[in-house]
Amino acid sequence: MTAPNLMIVGVGGMARHHLETMVKVGQTSPERQLGRVVFVDPAQDSLDKGLAIFAKAGLPAPTCYRDLSEALADDDLDVELTLIATPHNLHHPLAVDCLRAGIDVWLEKPMVCSVTEAEDLIKVRDETGRLLIVSFNGSLSPRVRKAREIIDSGAIGEVTAIHASVWQGWKTEQTGTWRTDPVQSGGGFMFDTGAHLLNTVCDLAGADFTKVSAWLEESGLPVDVLGSISARTTAGTMVTLAGCGDTIRTCESDVKVFGTKGLLVTGVWGERLLMQTDPKVAPTEVDVPKSAGPWDIVLDVRDGLLPNPSPAELGLRMAHLWDMVKASAAQDGRPVSPAT
Ligand SMILES: NC(=O)c1ccc[n+]([C@@H]2O[C@H](COP(=O)([O-])OP(=O)(O)OC[C@H]3O[C@@H](n4cnc5c(N)ncnc54)[C@H](O)[C@@H]3O)[C@@H](O)[C@H]2O)c1
Repeated sequence: MTAPNLMIVGVGGMARHHLETMVKVGQTSPERQLGRVVFVDPAQDSLDKGLAIFAKAGLPAPTCYRDLSEALADDDLDVELTLIATPHNLHHPLAVDCLRAGIDVWLEKPMVCSVTEAEDLIKVRDETGRLLIVSFNGSLSPRVRKAREIIDSGAIGEVTAIHASVWQGWKTEQTGTWRTDPVQSGGGFMFDTGAHLLNTVCDLAGADFTKVSAWLEESGLPVDVLGSISARTTAGTMVTLAGCGDTIRTCESDVKVFGTKGLLVTGVWGERLLMQTDPKVAPTEVDVPKSAGPWDIVLDVRDGLLPNPSPAELGLRMAHLWDMVKASAAQDGRPVSPAT
């Protein structure tokens, strides 16, 4: 047995990062060795860099297509799963086309760019009955799953507040790329690296947002670079989020979940998990099983070994939050409620 036949749509930096992991996983777990792989990308440079990974690993070269319609029109395509890792504005149309072609979708973050797109994607997923899993490291991380389990168990009491932030030298790194083009990106730092912040907090909050007040600052770019958000969930949790995309070239985060009987400390990628219930004992690390990352989790979900930890419903909650953030920021922070 090998991994499902795989199509990669968008063979850029992130897809190649996943590919390196896939090759490594296949070397240690023969049943997860890559089988048939095809690439779809209009950029020859991206295709060449992807092909080089296969050549180096001694694996057969993937068949390459320049666009998805060309691939889907090929009767010999023969793929079961697709990874979509393109600029954000393409996530919705490409995912819809793959689902409609009967292919499971592993979709890079952020799921889509708006509530309208999120609702449509869920409709198509339900009509086709295919798997749709969103590649948010936080939701896919065993530490964030464990944090949710701890919250649901009542071990930290009633969750009263979540404070979270993320920071990166994003402006320096991304100026001039598609990430700073509002059409292709759907938003700036707060919707790129900040999407991990929004998603992980949506996941940990476990409830939709009823009120949002936000400021976004563009700092000379056509998209946001700094963000400050205050929000309240339907469960009454007070949420404070901050993003800084204009600092030294680092990339880090901090998430604190406060409850009436304890608190959790984690990160937007699930990079740590500590818990404190006794004020006299400093937060201590919570033990969680190791994971080889998103690829292993996607395969476990496909094999029915795990429930989907990053479903489109969570993507919809985040899309509602992002739509409200933009609406409030456009009105200088005036509090807004979900559109009806
Ligand atoms: N989970 C994470 O931590 C993480 C990290 C980085 C990027 N990402 C996400 O991965 C995705 C891709 O980001 P990236 O850093 O790889 O960007 P990138 O610019 O390196 O790669 C994007 C690729 O998409 C290709 N592309 C453009 N239009 C296409 C089309 N119509 N069909 C097929 N391919 C097309 C481009 O040619 C390019 O090769 C984004 O959604 C991004 O947010 C996630």
